[in-house]
Amino acid sequence: MPSAAGTIDRTALFGSLDLGEIKLPNRIIMAPMSRMRAQADGVPSELNVVYYAQRASAGLIIAEASCVSRQGRGYANSTAIYSDEHTGGWRKVCDAVHAAGGRIVLQLWHVGRISHSSLQDGGALPVAPSPIARSGEILTPNGPMPYETPHALSVDEIHAVAEDYRRAAARAKDAGFDGVEVQCANGFLLEQFLNDGTNHRTDQYGGSMENRSRILFETLEAVCSIWPSGRVGVRLSPFSTSHECTDSNPEALHSHVVSRLAALNLAYLHFYEPRAGGAGRSDEFTAGVPFVSKLMRKHYSGPIIAAGGFDPDSAAVAVEQGSVDAVVFGRHFVSNPDLPARIRHGLTLTPYHRPTFYSGGVSGYTDYPYAQCSQS
Ligand SMILES: Cc1cc2nc3c(=O)[nH]c(=O)nc-3n(C[C@H](O)[C@H](O)[C@H](O)COP(=O)(O)O)c2cc1C
Repeated sequence: MPSAAGTIDRTALFGSLDLGEIKLPNRIIMAPMSRMRAQADGVPSELNVVYYAQRASAGLIIAEASCVSRQGRGYANSTAIYSDEHTGGWRKVCDAVHAAGGRIVLQLWHVGRISHSSLQDGGALPVAPSPIARSGEILTPNGPMPYETPHALSVDEIHAVAEDYRRAAARAKDAGFDGVEVQCANGFLLEQFLNDGTNHRTDQYGGSMENRSRILFETLEAVCSIWPSGRVGVRLSPFSTSHECTDSNPEALHSHVVSRLAALNLAYLHFYEPRAGGAGRSDEFTAGVPFVSKLMRKHYSGPIIAAGGFDPDSAAVAVEQGSVDAVVFGRHFVSNPDLPARIRHGLTLTPYHRPTFYSGGVSGYTDYPYAQCSQS
């Protein structure tokens, strides 16, 4: 809300909030961000431990997308959660974040067709709802290669994917996370099923909105057999065009999905706002797209959080006006480990350095400074 002096009152960001069973001391959430600093095979590293502990003052950390299976991988050096080594690596991260007073959930991920046979066991093709390739090239261990036409999952294979999510959710619990977030956004497997541009199936997993969302609800059933629903969130990205994953009627589709999610008493719904270009891959804003959190509010009375192009002032306004319950910051958390303190004290934010987003190593990862006052 603008004050007389023309500045924005940011106190709405500092009210506590219950996301289901997860209790947040503030409404400034750290976005899931793959930073490609894991060890070989996706095992979290000591550097990951330092990075997340540095950001423990966030109301909640949503740890980066982590693959639920080898089949779900599409990027070298991204994190995963399907082996004992992954679980052990994440346990160190969770312990460090908790010791620093924070809360952390893990984003569970399957990339679907955004992969390549060179990253798959036995050189298998990537999988998807339908054999439709993304255009362009993917970075593989052998350099950039064209995306391949994926293998369309059989019904049994779809059930196996839900089982992979269940096992990954159990590993996340074992590692000490406070909950999990199911990634059903940004053009990856579960959104590839939701959207009719990428799902041309004619069986019970294609066609109607109910059929296209069946895998999401089966996945959530599997995950909620491990976690109470009040510790499970879902990320959705209506109107986004990430990875050429589009739908002919995103408002109708997501109204349907969100209305059904409302019955599950989840910890939260997490919307990726489509105005933010390319899921953070561009600094451009996309014009002419709706504020989806606001649009979907009428279908959902539980907690809604949103990411995408917020700054401290627009975040405070969104919470104050009730469009969202908390705001998820991505790029600003990359370069401001103490973001809540900086927002509270009106301090200048350190600009992020895009070339080091995925470069590996300490630079642009754990070497961003804290402001003086945030140490007190
Ligand atoms: C380096 C980087 C990595 C990202 N990785 C993920 C990810 O693992 N999972 C995800 O859902 N979104 C990912 N995103 C998108 C962010 O979660 C966020 O939605 C996006 O950056 C927009 O928010 P912002 O404008 O505050 O940066 C990533 C974005 C960036 C910049």
